[in-house]
Amino acid sequence: MRRMLVTGGMGFIGSNFVRYWRERHPEDTVVNYDLLTYAGNRNNVADLEEGPRYRFVRGDIADARQVGQVLAEERIDTVVHFAAESHVDRSIAEPQSFVGTNVLGTQILLEAARRHGVARFVHISTDEVYGTLGPEGLFSESTPLAPNSPYSASKAGADLLARAYFETYRFPVMITRCSNNYGPYQFPEKLIPTVITRALRDQPVPVYGDGLNVRDWLHVHDHITAVERVIEAGIPGEVYNIGGSNERTNLQIVHRILQELGKPFSLIEFVPDRLGHDRRYAIDSAKIRSQLGWNPLYTFEEGIVQTVNWYVSHAEWWQSILDGTYRRIDQAGRGGQSG
Ligand code: NAD
Ligand code: TYD
Repeated sequence: MRRMLVTGGMGFIGSNFVRYWRERHPEDTVVNYDLLTYAGNRNNVADLEEGPRYRFVRGDIADARQVGQVLAEERIDTVVHFAAESHVDRSIAEPQSFVGTNVLGTQILLEAARRHGVARFVHISTDEVYGTLGPEGLFSESTPLAPNSPYSASKAGADLLARAYFETYRFPVMITRCSNNYGPYQFPEKLIPTVITRALRDQPVPVYGDGLNVRDWLHVHDHITAVERVIEAGIPGEVYNIGGSNERTNLQIVHRILQELGKPFSLIEFVPDRLGHDRRYAIDSAKIRSQLGWNPLYTFEEGIVQTVNWYVSHAEWWQSILDGTYRRIDQAGRGGQSG
């Protein structure tokens, strides 16, 4: 029976992870530790009952005292570290909080976990630390780090600290680097939920530059099962790339969503390109497939239809984000509506 601290468990991937883990491993204890920044939303886990095996603690990963206290009080043996500032556009506008949370916060969490004697620490990173690809090739675990945005640079900084904690202290940390995720509960600032929620309101859908940048999409469920394999069988000090080999241009994504919603392509509005916009990401996930036996469940076609349907049937969830009322929920108390 594990006693697990999940950081960032009120965000997109973290909340999907906490729900999955509660269902799959009900005997384990999960402490969801999250600061509730703009990206943290109690509605994401409104269906989860707090009790002896699940608890939410509002806190900052950069608060060494509070992190240390939770690790000790809850006798944590496993840390799964999702908490981060996660949006590239915000990092371009306002880089400082990315360094504060992603670099410094990760170091403080690593140090507290090491001092406490945590047995397994999974650091959730991104393929964006590898930089950008031309038309050919894939990122492997040995691709040199060459981050281009303040977001990816801050994640690379965190990865290097995680690596150093293994090399220096033999602290049992594993790093996962996943490609772009999509699925339920993704904040409507990222591409797929932006397109869905704007198209549903017949608003223009912004496409950056020529729309031909390529991302390698993975359903959030498949990211989570990969993390589960790493928690259970990953080797300390190792890096595992995670991806579903689903490369699409942004325009292909936008067209597919508009088609699914029965909305006209005339909603597409080409807007000025993102600064330093990485052209192509694509992941080689042969290592986690062959060494840990992971395989994704969703095809992109199944996943995108499921995701579009989820947003259609959960309009309340995303409307409360768009109108800001999700922030008014007593963030220290229970969430006010189901997700
Ligand atoms: P998100 O922005 O939806 O959620 C981040 C969560 O972290 C929020 O609940 C927020 O409140 C919390 N948080 C932020 N700063 C904190 C702090 N200082 N202390 C405690 N909690 C804090 O992000 P996401 O998309 O779910 O991404 C989760 C992780 O996965 C991140 O580390 C991200 O880099 C990584 N990742 C994301 C993707 C993707 O496509 N979304 C792909 C690969 C890797
Ligand atoms: P995003 O979802 O922000 O993820 P990331 O930058 O981490 O890959 O963006 C995915 C791609 O979609 C990226 O190439 C930028 C582009 N994009 C748009 O064209 N329009 C948008 O409104 C957004 C948010 C992103």
